[in-house]
Amino acid sequence: MKLSVIGTGYVGLVSGVCLASKGHDVICVDVNEEKVSSINNRNPPIHEEGLPELLRSVVDTRKFRATSNLTEALDFCEAVIIAVGTPTTDGKLDLTYLVQAARQIGAYLNSTNKFLSVIVKSTVLPTTTDVVVRQAIAEASGGKTSQFGLGMNPEFLREGNAISDFNFPDRIVLGFEDFKTGEVLSRIYEPWNADKVFVNTRTAEMIKYANNCFLALQISAANELANLAAKLGGIDFMDVFRGVTLDKRWNPIRNDGSRTEPEILTYLVPGPGFGGSCFPKDVQAIRAQGHDNGLPMEILDGILSVNERQPEQVTKILEAHFGTLSGKNILLLGLAFKPQTDDVRESASIRISEELLAYKTILVAHDPIATENFIKLSGVQTSTIKFTQDWKTEVANADAIVIATRWEEYKALPGLKVAGKVVFDARRLLSPKDFPSSTYFSIGRRV
Ligand code: UDX
Repeated sequence: MKLSVIGTGYVGLVSGVCLASKGHDVICVDVNEEKVSSINNRNPPIHEEGLPELLRSVVDTRKFRATSNLTEALDFCEAVIIAVGTPTTDGKLDLTYLVQAARQIGAYLNSTNKFLSVIVKSTVLPTTTDVVVRQAIAEASGGKTSQFGLGMNPEFLREGNAISDFNFPDRIVLGFEDFKTGEVLSRIYEPWNADKVFVNTRTAEMIKYANNCFLALQISAANELANLAAKLGGIDFMDVFRGVTLDKRWNPIRNDGSRTEPEILTYLVPGPGFGGSCFPKDVQAIRAQGHDNGLPMEILDGILSVNERQPEQVTKILEAHFGTLSGKNILLLGLAFKPQTDDVRESASIRISEELLAYKTILVAHDPIATENFIKLSGVQTSTIKFTQDWKTEVANADAIVIATRWEEYKALPGLKVAGKVVFDARRLLSPKDFPSSTYFSIGRRV
């Protein structure tokens, strides 16, 4: 099928390349010429595992290309997927780019008799597709409402796993407002053998938000109780969690008595809180929609306020240990919001480093790939931080080493000279047994 994707950001590019790799003919559109030529030269402008190889193969087989010419892309396709950014301003979604894309599609329809299915992939609040997008296209097309259909197909891509999440999804949510677009969506995802949920567009939009809110809720609930476990001592919250997840409502028992280890057990780990481009932004946005509709949204308030405070655990526990943190040499390992990405948006390391600087520590920081973004985008006063590429050498000078991102390479820490030092394993990458001669801290247990 011939498809166009508007937006070559993280979601647009991954979706376009994966759809092409399944046999569709795809054109991605972006206003940024530099990005377009970089993509056509097979250099993805974002860091994502497996993307360079897949991009190369779909460009070489001519299943995929990028352009800055929207008309060319719309002439080409049967369906257009909108995957533009929806940034948050003051906790509210900014739909400028989405509405702009919808208007451009409308203006195109004004000049042709072609029918187009317009499918929104950007994360947008319930009712956006069937009210805001519909209105923008209708107006710009001069009222040609029978010439377009509407669909909504949310993404569930984790950064760093985006290609495999796209190719092997847990489920595919297909929202549509008209029969033709329902059929188009079925054809697009025909190559996928996954559970498909056919709903209207506002339900599809709500599924995406509810999914992220439930996951963020579990993280904040686990972190709040984990803090208490650590305070009381003698409890490891991971043991608590293992016990909880054996409740058959979380983890059904099969007829033969066996079970599958619930994946949430490997996902949920007490730590300094969630970050990234999705959880904080999505919980804030749907909370704002609730407020706009006169609802209190107290659980969502709780998710966010627990998460905002959670990075303080690191400095609080360190301060209680040292008496004062002033003048202490701290080596912060990991700046990205999670491993396998250079994304620092809302990373817990931002708050941790701000706190460590406020406590007047001497801060050295490392990340295998996110340092540049951290300096450019984190908003932290980075002039007083020493950034290193050689963290192993810096271990010798540190009073305390804080692991804030689960990068594999930090597993080498126990093999270095850490005797007598403090190790704060905020993401539980390692275990107390790895540090017999150090003072070991983590979140959710006191050893
Ligand atoms: C998330 C969702 O998982 C994905 O389904 C959705 O489409 C987009 O948002 P992502 O933000 O890429 O994906 O990463 P994820 O692995 O879910 O981690 C999000 C954040 O939560 C990270 O900062 C991670 O460190 C943090 N986290 C996760 C915790 O702080 N504690 C946990 O127990 C689990």
